[in-house]
This record gives sequence, C-alpha cells and structure tokens, in this order.
Amino acid sequence: MHSRKSLIEIFFILSILISLQACQYADPLKKSLEALKQGIESGPPDPVSPPILISSPPGAVVLTSISGGVDTDLGTLPKIEMNISSDSTINEIVKLTIEKDELDQIDVAQSIKLYISNPSFKLNPNSKVFFQLTLDVSTMAPTVMGSHFHVLARSVATNQVLANLQIPFAVHSVYEIMLYGGSPTELWNSPSTVAFTSHPEGVTVRFINMDPTDAHIIHSTGPIPHGDTTMPMAPSVNGKPGGIYQYTVTTQSPVGDTYYCHLHEGGNEARTLTFNTPQSFPPSNNPNATYSYIRDNIFSAATTSKCVTCHGGAGGVTLDSYLNTLKTVTPGNYLASSLFNSVDSGAMPLGGTKLTDLQILAIKDWITSGAPNN
Ligand code: HEC
Repeated sequence: MHSRKSLIEIFFILSILISLQACQYADPLKKSLEALKQGIESGPPDPVSPPILISSPPGAVVLTSISGGVDTDLGTLPKIEMNISSDSTINEIVKLTIEKDELDQIDVAQSIKLYISNPSFKLNPNSKVFFQLTLDVSTMAPTVMGSHFHVLARSVATNQVLANLQIPFAVHSVYEIMLYGGSPTELWNSPSTVAFTSHPEGVTVRFINMDPTDAHIIHSTGPIPHGDTTMPMAPSVNGKPGGIYQYTVTTQSPVGDTYYCHLHEGGNEARTLTFNTPQSFPPSNNPNATYSYIRDNIFSAATTSKCVTCHGGAGGVTLDSYLNTLKTVTPGNYLASSLFNSVDSGAMPLGGTKLTDLQILAIKDWITSGAPNN
C-alpha cells in the first residue's frame, strides 16, 4: 500500500516536471514559428552564416574553410575562402591539391572545374596562409546532389598528406539571369548563347529584375512561356531583387531545342538558351550498349518481366520511346540514373526476375556513353 502510494506520488511529480519542461519549450517554439511567419511575409530572413569547416582529425597542419561548402546554381563562379595553419613542428613547402573522385563520377564531361589561388608555398612554424578556391560551374554542368570533394595539403618533400578537408558540394539545375536594364544596349548577365545539358528534373530559368527604373516582361518563342503583360516584373528597390519570373524547361522538349527571349525594349538584344544539349561522351566498346538493344532485349523482351507492360505510357515512368526513356537517365552518369539503379538493385522488374549481369552492363555502358539514340 505504502510503496504504491509513493509510486503514484513520483508519477505525479514527474508529470508536473514534464509539463513544466513543455512550458519552457513552448514559448521559444512559438517565437521561432512567428519569426518564420514574419520571414515569409516580409522577405527572406537574413542569410545564415556558413558553417566553418576544419580538417579532421586536427594535426600539425589544419585546413579551414571559412565559407563552408558550396551550394550553387548553373553558370556560376563560387569562391571559397580557406586557411591553412601550422603548429611549431611544421617548416616545409606544402602543395595543395583537389581530389574529386565522387564529383568526377557525376561530372563525366568535366563541366565543373576547380582552381586553387596559390597551390604551393612555404609553411613556416605557427603560421597561417590564406588561399581561395574558385569553382567554375559551367551551364553544361549536371545536377549535383550531396556530393563533395577534398582539399589535400601535401608535403612536397615526402608527398605525405598533412591535412585533408572534405567540402560538401551541390549544384541545382537553376540558371539565374539578372536584368540590370539601363539605356540600350541593356545590360543583363547572360551571354548571347547558353547551352544546358539534359537534366532529368528540368532546368529552372529564373529572370530577376535588378533594374532600378524599368519594369520588364520576358518575351519568348521557345519553351519558356511569354511573361504576363498585365503583371510585369517590378523594378528593383535599394539594390534588392525586384520582380522574378521563372519557368522550368523539362527534358520533354527535344534535344537541341532552341528558343530566344528578350526584353520588350528591343528584340535586337535577344539571347538564345539551348536546352538538352548532348554532351560529348566516350563511345562504348560494348556492342550491347545501344538504345535499340535495350529496347528490344530488356524493355520489351518476353524473357524478363516486360518493362513496358507496366511502363507502357499510362503516366509515371514510361519506357515506350527514346525521349521518355531519357527521363530516367542522366547521360554519362549511370549512378545518377534511376533506370540503372532500379535494375541494379533488383527493384525492377517489379515482381520479376532480376536482369542478367550482361543486361545490366548494357544499360550501364549505354548511359556512360551518353545514352545516345542508337
Ligand atoms: C509489374 C509492374 C512493373 C514492371 C514489370 C516493371 N516496373 Fe518499373 N516500376 C513499377 C512501379 C509501380 C514503379 C513506381 C511507380 C512509377 O514511378 O511508375 C516503378 C518504377 C520504376 C522506375 C523509377 C524508379 C525510381 O526510383 O524513380 C524505373 C526506372 C523503372 N520502374 C524501370 C523499370 C524497368 C527497366 C523494368 C523492366 C526491367 C521495370 N521497371 C519493370 C512497376 C513495374
């Protein structure tokens, strides 16, 4: 009886404690929700300062990225500020290199380049050297999700790795065009012709009005619809982005589809954006690495659970044509292709027998050779 009573007491006290805790949390939670709501209502919140990345385990030489990782769009030149520091035991010539095996798997056509401002220098005891890493993300770059690369500091004398820093890296399939306006020729930061490789999720083209005086409307004869003439993009105020007009061009538009867009002030200033431009890939020496082999021997073969019985064109994944098949593929990059991953894992054919190694290899090699219509 006695112990039962104290148990109930303990339970009672505990529940009071828990509800007190809950009260403590309720207020800040409410506050941050309100801040979030305000942020949505009155423009984006202040940018969060990037995390500082430090090489680990920290040794006699430490690499630090002050700018954190890279999260960027197509056609950009992001820069990363970095430090390398030494303790009292270090007194030697150091060279910096970039290791990007994981990125190369995705960027087969080498459309993303990395440069180090001063790749070799003398590192004195207890010193710190600043350097900068520049990335040249061309518009032909693929989408990069959650990848990374490494910056390595090596001793020139022994070639030993003194420090190794992993830098997270992402490229979104977004292309931003800033319209600065001014008297003709108007200024906007897009070259006269821009090519994009095929992105399974499409390429989002985002026009941002930075012109402090004029409202603008995007005119187009290609896949990007003409801007709404009743709702022009508002001018920029205090250097902040004014109106924004964006559209996502999907892989449904044929390879090499070209269109142009211009400001309503003058078609002479037209620019051309070309979507789904094929990249050049090494040809495969696997005779089965062709679209026709895959179509005839995998997608519609009676021996495997025919893919097209389920993916015949009634929405979702469709493998009934070359262009539809391309939507499941990132040319040149089989690891980023759901077509390869779904058969390699055995998830597809659903409820059927896993494809043979030779069939999976045909898909892999076909994608690596750029998934041509052959
Ligand atoms: C019995 C029906 C069936 C068969 C047969 C089948 N699939 Fe699927 N598959 C599905 C369903 C259901 C999904 C998920 C819904 C969707 O995306 O259409 C799917 C999804 C997929 C996806 C998308 C996976 C992702 O992660 O986005 C691919 C690629 C695919 N299938 C390829 C194939 C290939 C290649 C074959 C033949 C080797 C095949 N499927 C055979 C039913 C099937």
